Amino acid sequence: MTQLQITAFGDPSVLKLNPSLDKVPAEGEVRVRICYAGVNPIDAKTRAGLGWAAAQNKDKLPWTPGYDVAGVIEKLGPGVSAFKEGEPVCGMVGFPLAGGGYAESIVVSERELVKLDGVSLKQGAALPLAGLTAWQGLFEHGGLKGGQRVLILAGAGGVGHLAVQFASAYGAEVVVTASKDNHVFLHGIGASKMVDYHDADWVAQVGPVDLVLDLMGGESGKAALACVAKGGKLVTVPTLTAQLIKDAGAALGVEVTGMLVHPDTRQLAQMLILLRQGGAHITLAGEHTLAEGALAHQALERGHTRGKLVLRMPAAERYPA
Ligand SMILES: NC(=O)c1ccc[n+]([C@@H]2O[C@H](COP(=O)([O-])OP(=O)(O)OC[C@H]3O[C@@H](n4cnc5c(N)ncnc54)[C@H](OP(=O)(O)O)[C@@H]3O)[C@@H](O)[C@H]2O)c1
Repeated sequence: MTQLQITAFGDPSVLKLNPSLDKVPAEGEVRVRICYAGVNPIDAKTRAGLGWAAAQNKDKLPWTPGYDVAGVIEKLGPGVSAFKEGEPVCGMVGFPLAGGGYAESIVVSERELVKLDGVSLKQGAALPLAGLTAWQGLFEHGGLKGGQRVLILAGAGGVGHLAVQFASAYGAEVVVTASKDNHVFLHGIGASKMVDYHDADWVAQVGPVDLVLDLMGGESGKAALACVAKGGKLVTVPTLTAQLIKDAGAALGVEVTGMLVHPDTRQLAQMLILLRQGGAHITLAGEHTLAEGALAHQALERGHTRGKLVLRMPAAERYPA
C-alpha cells in the first residue's frame, strides 16, 4: 500500500508518497481498506511543524497525517466482534498523535470505528473530526439549548457549516460570519442571519448572543467577546490562540472555554443518523487523489474552502461513493 508522509516539517511539498506493507491487525484491531480520507486544518498545521501534535511527533518522523477515514473492513484481528469483513465504516482514528489516514490502508482498534449505514463513504470520511468538533463545541462545551441565539464565526468552513446545521436542527437561532459569497449557501443550511466579517461594524451587526462558537480565534475571536450577552459564553476552538482569548475574556468578565476535540463513536453514530435522515449534509469543497494531497493542503491554507476536502484512494473505485 501507499501512504502520504512527511519526513520533515515544512510547506505542502514535504508530503511524499511512500510505499509500505499492509499491517496485520492484532487482538481487537481491524484493517480498513481506506476509500476516502478527510483533510483538516490540524493536518496542515502539524505538517508545518505547528502545535502540540507536531511537538510530540518531531522525533518520530516519518509521520502520516490524517485522522478521518472511511473505507471497508478488510481483515479482522483476533477477538473482534463488532464488525464483519466487507462492512463500510468510518472513524476518527489515531488522534491526536498517530494519525495515519492519508494511506490506502490502516490498522485501528475496532473501538475507533462506526458502521456506515445509509451514508456514503465520502460523507463518512468528511464527517468525523469536523462534526465532532462542531457537536462538542456547541453542546458539551457551549451547553447550547433550543431557542438560544448562537454566533458561529467562520460558518462556511468544515466545522462551521456542520455547526450551523446541528444548531439549527436543535432549534437555536443561528448567526454566522462569512464573506458575502457564502451568505446564500449559509441561509440555505439554516443560518437566519449572515454577517460579512469584512464590514468594519460586523460585531454591532451581530447583536447579543447566548453563545459564540469561535472557529477563527485571534483578533476575530477577541472582537466577538463583545457579542456575548450577560450570562453567555464563548467557546474558542483554534488552540493556538485560545489563551489570548481567555485572557481577553477574563478582562471583560466574559466566560471563555477552549477545547480539544476527542473521538466519540456514540456522538459519531448520532451524527450519522442525522445525515442519513437528511437533517444535515456535508458540502464538499473538493476531492483530490492521495498523490495530490499537497493541493488539498494548499487549498485549506488559503483559508476559504466551503465545507470539507477529502482525499480519494484507489479503492474508492471498487465501492460506490
Ligand atoms: N481545538 C480543536 O479540537 C479543533 C478541532 C477542529 C478544528 N480546529 C480549528 O478550528 C478552525 C476551523 O476549522 P475548520 O476545519 O472549520 O477550518 P476551515 O474549513 O479551513 O475554515 C475555512 C473557512 O473559514 C472562513 N473564514 C476565513 N477567514 C474568516 C474570517 N475572518 N471570519 C469568518 N470566516 C472566515 C472561510 O469563509 P469565507 O470564504 O467566507 O471567508 C472558510 O469557509 C481551524 O483553526 C482548526 O485548526 C480546532
